[in-house]
Amino acid sequence: EKEPVTVLVTGAAGQIGYALVPMIARGVMLGPDQPVIIHMLDIEPAAEALNGVKMELIDAAFPLLKGVVATTDVVEACQGVNIAVMVGGFPRKEGMERKDVMSKNVSIYKAQASALEQHAAPDCKVLVVANPANTNALILKEFAPSIPEKNITCLTRLDHNRALGQISEKLDVHVSEVKNVIIWGNHSSTQYPDVNHATVKTTDGEKSVRVALANDNWLNTEFITTVQQRGAAIIKARKLSSALSAASAACDHIRDWVLGTPKGTWVSMGVYSDGSYGIQPGIVYSFPVTCEKGQWSIVKGLKIDEFSREKMDATAKELMEEKTLAHSCLV
Ligand code: NAI
Repeated sequence: EKEPVTVLVTGAAGQIGYALVPMIARGVMLGPDQPVIIHMLDIEPAAEALNGVKMELIDAAFPLLKGVVATTDVVEACQGVNIAVMVGGFPRKEGMERKDVMSKNVSIYKAQASALEQHAAPDCKVLVVANPANTNALILKEFAPSIPEKNITCLTRLDHNRALGQISEKLDVHVSEVKNVIIWGNHSSTQYPDVNHATVKTTDGEKSVRVALANDNWLNTEFITTVQQRGAAIIKARKLSSALSAASAACDHIRDWVLGTPKGTWVSMGVYSDGSYGIQPGIVYSFPVTCEKGQWSIVKGLKIDEFSREKMDATAKELMEEKTLAHSCLV
């Protein structure tokens, strides 16, 4: 039997946490033959609820689950962690200024960066889910200089999956037949869901999505806004933000990162920019990536048209502004 992998979930008493931990314990994240130990962190006001989640994990008698730690102590939570899924954060409440929310999250991610750096396994892979996800990941990177920057990512896979979902609905094909959409930029409403390289499997071979949809104007208009605004639509419908789809996307993100992407398929991940596609280094930006042997690499050489260029730059600009705002919270 394989050695267990230790997975940290912060904010584990919250909505996404509640959907995510059973997926991890069932092998959805790391595979059906990979035992896991789950560390769950939350804050004092949620300690009792967190313990309730631990009780349910025990009650579910998961064969792969070799241990559960539920704690409000960040050092205990980070100890020996191989994979850290950072879901905990301070939500924007009505009447709060952007800067106030940013300031709360900057201090959370600064503190948790140090704890991960000091106590996690040296090759720990980090996925930031909590919003503002890209900028929280950037702060984590800046305050954990000994963690390789390639190990720090943020979640845009939910947006990626939403884009696949919209196209499959429109074409009336199964979602698994559609691939290679791209989410560029920020996990916010400025993100750019790009279909220019997306393909769909049809009975007469693989086709470009644009060709399959006869270049329907929908792709340049409603498709983009639907994906950008999907989070808000879920809140309107559920009176709560997306949780099961976010948890599932977090599992997809880590699974593909650790176990690799299928040949010919890429996914979207928020990663520290290396300057690819003219996106300035120094921000965490969502790019198309392929993964192999536990390493992601940005897909190179895709043709970018003017329509895309403008949208890719606009979302980069927003991330630069978020970075400035985040840094102004540090002083
Ligand atoms: P939630 O409010 O239900 O849960 C958040 C949990 O984090 C709470 O239990 C809270 O006590 C905890 N928490 C707060 N400060 C903490 C700290 N310093 N350390 C550890 N835990 C802490 O929220 P939900 O719905 O689970 O969402 C979590 C985050 O994920 C939010 O920031 C949300 O905006 C974000 N999100 C991101 C998505 C993405 O695609 N990147 C998609 C959906 C949500």
